[in-house]
Amino acid sequence: MQNFTFSNPTRIIFGKNTIFKLGPEAAKAGKKALLVYGGGSIKKNGVYAALITALKDNGVAFIEHAGVKPNPVLSHVREGIEKARKNDCDLVVAAGGGSVIDEAKAIAAGVKYPGDVWDFFCGKAEIKEALPLFTALTLPATGSEMNAGCVVTKEETRQKYSAHGAALFPRVSVLDPETTLTLPMAQVANGAVDSLAHIIEGYFTTTDRDAEITDEVVHALARTVIASTGRILKDPSDYNARASMMWSATLALNGLATCGYGGMNFINHAIEHSLSALYDIAHGAGLAIVMPAWFKHHLAADGPARLEKFGRAVFGVRTAEDTIKAFETFFRKAGAPVRLGEAGIPAADIPRIAANAMGLIRLWGMKHEQPEIEKILKNAV
Ligand code: NZQ
Ligand code: ZN
Repeated sequence: MQNFTFSNPTRIIFGKNTIFKLGPEAAKAGKKALLVYGGGSIKKNGVYAALITALKDNGVAFIEHAGVKPNPVLSHVREGIEKARKNDCDLVVAAGGGSVIDEAKAIAAGVKYPGDVWDFFCGKAEIKEALPLFTALTLPATGSEMNAGCVVTKEETRQKYSAHGAALFPRVSVLDPETTLTLPMAQVANGAVDSLAHIIEGYFTTTDRDAEITDEVVHALARTVIASTGRILKDPSDYNARASMMWSATLALNGLATCGYGGMNFINHAIEHSLSALYDIAHGAGLAIVMPAWFKHHLAADGPARLEKFGRAVFGVRTAEDTIKAFETFFRKAGAPVRLGEAGIPAADIPRIAANAMGLIRLWGMKHEQPEIEKILKNAV
């Protein structure tokens, strides 16, 4: 087990009818919010109405920045920064899924930075400060509500890159599982796949394989995500399954599930970001294609030990091959694509996808070359 520092300053308020609690919290940080949201789901499920009442009742004025796209884009981030500056916003409130929260983070940091916000994403500048951020999460998936990262796509170059910095941790995130009852089943699937992806990256790439507590945290989270998703697919109104799923997704990428691991990397994410950058598919759908392909490569390169351990603890299977099959079966049952063709991506595009992924692989300091990435992607044909 490696040395580690675990620090997470985000305050979580969890449960039914909790959105109103964001009002007094936001009022402690400022007087005028930039209210960031997406394509309108929050207006259909009551989140918008609850949030604006909470802000108004606590004397927090707000300017709206709507229309965040799934896979948020740099041009819209820049618009948000200008809007926040022009209106003297002193805090940011985000309501929605990971895309909305990520764009809100980029805006919060961009407002405080005199240069181009993309500098944070391509490694030219470090995030030193940001406007205080408050979130109401409506889609359990990314963990953005309790972490210090954000992902944005630069449209012209199709680069989907991430920025990180302690200033990006939300001050407070409200997690009301009832807000997830309106999710389309495809988004339930994407969220389940993404949560699993966040815990398998560290588990399978760590060079220190003796951190039993963290292995067990990963097993417990994986079992819970899989069981909760099964319950939601059977009965979408199952509140306790929604609640377990929501908290699991947050814990999957808040730093807890990698404590004590060493030398790990996020290779599945680096490859997936190329798929969603080039084809604008959902992050979770891209991961369902990449993960089984990468597992096959991992088995050939690193042997069966980790796949066997994970399979025994999570799926009740004995072999590495059966563990990979169990992942695929779960992804298919949830309705996610598991081959490039199932997402309409031609095999002939593999060199282009791998070339795009190399940008992020280099930026994240990973030791992988394009031929290896192409080989992994061929497992997804
Ligand atoms: O835009 P609206 O109308 O809100 O609709 C959204 C969107 O169309 C909808 N939705 C969200 N909550 C809903 C709902 N529809 C009905 N009821 C609800 N309660 O779902 C659609 C997808 O939303 P999105 O925010 O794009 O999904 P997700 O949360 O999966 O976020 C994906 C983005 O986050 C990045 C991904 O790369 C992708 O860009 N990630 C961010 C990470 C982070 N910050 O730590 C880590 C991840 O690995 C990931 O890369
Ligand atoms: Zn992810």
